[in-house]
Amino acid sequence: MKDRFGREHNYLRISVTDRCNLRCHYCMPLHAKFFDQVLSFDEIVTVVQVASELGIRSVRITGGEPLVRPNLPELIYRLKTECDLEEISCTTNGMLLERFAKDLKDAGLDRINVSVDTLRPERFRKITRFGSLETVLYGLRRALEVGLTPLKINAVILNGFNDDEIEDLFQLTLVEDVTVRFLELMPIGEALSLNGLGGYLNLSKVRRALTEKYGLVPADERGHGPARYWKAPGAPGKVGFITPISDRYCATCSRLRLTANGEIRPCLAYDVHVNLRDAIRQGDREAIAAGIARALEIKPAGHHWDEGKITQTVMSSLGG
Ligand code: 5AD
Ligand code: SF4
Repeated sequence: MKDRFGREHNYLRISVTDRCNLRCHYCMPLHAKFFDQVLSFDEIVTVVQVASELGIRSVRITGGEPLVRPNLPELIYRLKTECDLEEISCTTNGMLLERFAKDLKDAGLDRINVSVDTLRPERFRKITRFGSLETVLYGLRRALEVGLTPLKINAVILNGFNDDEIEDLFQLTLVEDVTVRFLELMPIGEALSLNGLGGYLNLSKVRRALTEKYGLVPADERGHGPARYWKAPGAPGKVGFITPISDRYCATCSRLRLTANGEIRPCLAYDVHVNLRDAIRQGDREAIAAGIARALEIKPAGHHWDEGKITQTVMSSLGG
């Protein structure tokens, strides 16, 4: 499945809910408005079946927070057994992970990414508004126990908020078989009003500094996303950098997004989308396929964030 620029698309992010049990400042407003209706599991399975016939090989379950969607393991099981996919992964805030890790693994989930921006409990509470670092750490331990691996940790780095923890987070990779990924802040929705909680930091510069200090070498890593991976020689873990602004990766983008209300979003940086809600409600597979093709046709070449443009839609309804 190629777009106008010849980019092959084989990866679909599926947002199963726009709700979340946290309210990270860069992602969601405190009093968020939610969709009236979200796609049912039947409807999601239908879209994924059509998408996989068109060339989608891997899916990632996102939110909001995907684990607040009731019976999520059932959806995972259905995607595993009713769709032709190579891999199913999930991005979560980890708050409900201890409770659900085993069920998710048993249902067929391959691996997870967990968002941990800071290793300091008070800071964690501050950026997430309601989160508990301790609860998330229990979730991580459970995920490792049940084999949801390789485990990835996402940390959005905000200048003046948690940039003093970059080295602490990186050092986890020196002692554990985890991949720590640093994300540049993207100007999407809430990220523009951070209430004084820091701002954008150029992570390519951080990568160069870490490379110099620790002798990082490029590392192979299975992944469909835009991260580039490195490791310290001999370390069990890896470090990844997601640098949309300082080192753009749009030329190799392979992803589409399905929102919880049935839109196909070809690019996180634009509000353009194809609304498939009616086609999905009617179970019209041809119309769904045509909608996916249309989304590829209108997919922009790349983001325009460095020209001061922003994405209006909040991140929690896009699924990251
Ligand atoms: N910029 C960068 N990353 C973000 N995330 C959420 N909002 C933003 C933003 N504005 C992260 C989440 C999660 C991942 C899917 O995206 O923390 O780890
Ligand atoms: Fe929830 Fe994730 Fe958004 Fe934080 S980043 S509010 S955990 S969806």
